[in-house]
Amino acid sequence: MAEFKVKRAKPIAAEVTVPGDKSISHRSVMFASLTNGPCDITGFLPSEDCLSTVSAMRALGVKIEVLEENEFGPVSLRVHGVRGKFEEPSGPIDCGNSGTTMRLLTGLLAGQPFTVNLTGDESLSRRPMGRVTEPLGLMGAKFKATGRARTAPLQVTGTNEVKAMEYELPVASAQVKSAILLAGLFASGKTTVIEPAVSRDHTEQMLRYFLLKVVKEGNRISTWGGQLPAESRDFVVPGDISSAAFWIVAAAAQPGSHLLIHNVGLNKTRTGLLKILLRMGAQINETVNDGEGEPSGFIEVRGSELRGTEIFGDEIPNVIDEIPILAVAAACAKGRTSIRDASELRVKESDRINTVAHNLRQMGVQVEEFVDGMEIEGVKQLKGAMLESLGDHRIAMAFSIAGLLASAETVVKGVECIRTSYPGFEAELRRFMSPKVSEDLVTQTISTFDSGDDYGEMESGGRKDGR
Ligand code: S3P
Repeated sequence: MAEFKVKRAKPIAAEVTVPGDKSISHRSVMFASLTNGPCDITGFLPSEDCLSTVSAMRALGVKIEVLEENEFGPVSLRVHGVRGKFEEPSGPIDCGNSGTTMRLLTGLLAGQPFTVNLTGDESLSRRPMGRVTEPLGLMGAKFKATGRARTAPLQVTGTNEVKAMEYELPVASAQVKSAILLAGLFASGKTTVIEPAVSRDHTEQMLRYFLLKVVKEGNRISTWGGQLPAESRDFVVPGDISSAAFWIVAAAAQPGSHLLIHNVGLNKTRTGLLKILLRMGAQINETVNDGEGEPSGFIEVRGSELRGTEIFGDEIPNVIDEIPILAVAAACAKGRTSIRDASELRVKESDRINTVAHNLRQMGVQVEEFVDGMEIEGVKQLKGAMLESLGDHRIAMAFSIAGLLASAETVVKGVECIRTSYPGFEAELRRFMSPKVSEDLVTQTISTFDSGDDYGEMESGGRKDGR
């Protein structure tokens, strides 16, 4: 099992570029497959999860060429869309660790008149699938969930006669919403999903980008059957704010730090982390670039003393993937932080309420655990500890950052899982640990600031585009 030995870091002065957004990368390949292609995708995230989606679409008869690769895998792809008419695969499709691959695929497959078996690794085979099989079953797809309690492996049999419907989601889940909207494209008539709270809206954005009709009225999102993207369009994936979150907290929680993040996605359904850190006393500015498609831009962070806050209700879906790293920020803040209404965390790649609480306690933090969240009492100084990731990428990364902020060495075991979402994390972590490099970066960053009038004048806590 691979591990990181993390040492306390000096205040960081750095510029970071994070790899492509995971949610958008998955969707870009799926939507491009629905067009009459070819579509060129740049900024694609070469992580194991997104590569599971590429393999799945290839298994369904979509030709995907690699145009450019970096050391981790493809970053630029040409997808030859098949106008939504997929081929029956010759064997099961392995979705690996990726919930997004499996759940969104069920939506696409609901409209294909053949049977496909979807498998996943141990963690994915524990995650609830009834949340997609139930609504898609109402739309006419047939499922056999061979795992206990409606879990993968899943057998999906789609149909040429998908029924449009109106469905109220029991939980705010972008994956479930997306599966239903994708199935709705193969239905006759209008399909509406009602969300209990706003979840990430990349599918809606992408429907719009590919010139398909989608209407949002309050918490109701509707799309129509019989429409598939007539036009192939190229797509640029911005950097992943969920990956940037680790460096943002590393800088925000350490007075004297200064960080710039370039070309990162700033979709408002994903930037709750920034709002929460501002409430905790962090100094953060975001600037959104003009352009088509998903909003993106850059973020500037200066470290300060953080204070505890309350995170609950509708804010939770907006930060669902950032809660482990927000919990680390809370542990370094003055006072108590309460995180509630977050029981969804229990069915992620690990039970994230339990794994976060356990690991924070190992670092000397008092944590009270609830069914739907936790309360964290901030400490002056985290202690170094021996920690386990439990095969969960966001736990491995959040506690590597905790290690940067701890008094003594922290060992994080089981870090291979980081490849599912953030190849390149290790190299960045080493850069943050090395004081010499940090000093070089101080000079580099200061000179950037001196020459750049773009962000020299910003006030703390604002979005430059006024949104
Ligand atoms: C995702 C949605 C979220 C998130 C996951 C990616 C997506 O899951 O946790 O990492 O791309 O739609 P839920 O929609 O199940 O909350």
